[in-house]
Amino acid sequence: MDKLIIEGGNRLVGTIEVSGSKNSALPLMAAALLTGGKYTLTNLPKLKDISTFKKVLSHMGCVVENTDGGVIIDASNARMVEAPYDLVKTMRASVLVLGPMVARFKEARVSLPGGCAIGARPINLHLMALEKMGAEVEIQGGYVIVKAKNLKGAKICFDTITVTGTENIMLAAVHADGETIIENAALEPEVTELGYALKKMGADIDGIGTDKITIRGVKELRPIEYKVMPDRIEAGTFMVAAAMTTGNVLIKNCPAEHLDALTDKLKAAGASVKTENGGVRVVGDKPIQSVDIKTYPYPAFPTDMQAQMMAMMSISSGLSVITETIFENRFMHVAELQRMGANITVDGRNAVVKGVRSLSGAPLMATDLRASASLVLAGLVANGITEVSRIYHLDRGYDAIEKKLNAIGANIKRVKDE
Ligand code: EPZ
Repeated sequence: MDKLIIEGGNRLVGTIEVSGSKNSALPLMAAALLTGGKYTLTNLPKLKDISTFKKVLSHMGCVVENTDGGVIIDASNARMVEAPYDLVKTMRASVLVLGPMVARFKEARVSLPGGCAIGARPINLHLMALEKMGAEVEIQGGYVIVKAKNLKGAKICFDTITVTGTENIMLAAVHADGETIIENAALEPEVTELGYALKKMGADIDGIGTDKITIRGVKELRPIEYKVMPDRIEAGTFMVAAAMTTGNVLIKNCPAEHLDALTDKLKAAGASVKTENGGVRVVGDKPIQSVDIKTYPYPAFPTDMQAQMMAMMSISSGLSVITETIFENRFMHVAELQRMGANITVDGRNAVVKGVRSLSGAPLMATDLRASASLVLAGLVANGITEVSRIYHLDRGYDAIEKKLNAIGANIKRVKDE
């Protein structure tokens, strides 16, 4: 296992590049199962989760060919096989093969992903929707088995907004008999991108980018070439890093239009955030003001940026209340930040952060993807040395983050953790 050793106190100054979006690439890779032939994705991020998903697709008989910065997936000879627990447990988004598998092979067997550090992560809404489309759903030995001779269009209203739930049903509905209407659909940009890609493949879809998506089943879809959009959460993480370190950073190919809620909060906290040459320049030249954060589905403040903002609020000038409304256990970073001297009190879904003058470096342990990002950010501003272990969590969603941050002034070393 690797760990990062971070020497705090450096300003971040320079230009940093955002990679392709993990949470867009995953459903786009699942869509390859809906057709045969060379299905090409470019601007694919080099991440653990992406390589895990490639293994899942290869396991199902897809030919997965890595290209420079992308992948070509040929699912012509794919067949219904189980998505095994040892792969699914490391990357719960493997449940995204459910929809396309049932659509194409009339059957799917996927290990139940199980929970993860941030919550139980059930998939009951995915399964409810597939049952409404005529599928039979069975749970056996930790696997979910979904069978349907022919999925039929249905009207589905999600009582909780679910990103991969919406994506799974979109992937299932494109071949279903008749019309499927998804109400209370997730509005995340990654869902919208999937809609555009499916349309390019020949799917009959209306309402892309809205909370009501209508899909009429078609017989055939064609393979496409599609460029993965920039990762708004990686971009947001770099924006917070610049603001926290009194930095001045140009974040290239930053999807500013997908980051309004974060931008508003960073500006309220005293940072300057301006679009420049297709990117965003963040300057943190004023004392950090405390702001309240409440996570909520897109376009409100993203839960995937909550931990990073908490690191910033830990060194703000006052009191900040951070409310996590999406996941029931997404404060695992609090205990680690407290070890650095942060003053945080958690009460259920609320964390009250009282800013302190400075944090002190400490040995820390990453627990989940975005929590580990927040520990890196805290290490950038802490006095002394911070060690973050178990950074395999970080590598799931950030492509060589230490290389990118060191190129703009950070001092981070990646070493083997004995
Ligand atoms: C997606 O997860 C993202 N992952 C997550 O990003 C992100 O945090 C989350 O959406 C919320 O924005 C990918 O896109 C691969 P949900 P997902 O279904 O789809 C409950 C990261 O850091 N729910 O929108 O699994 C669920 O428990 C990851 O990149 C049910 O109850 O999240 C949660 O409370 C972390 N039943 C809420 O809905 C279901 O069947 C939202 O979950 C499905 C979800």
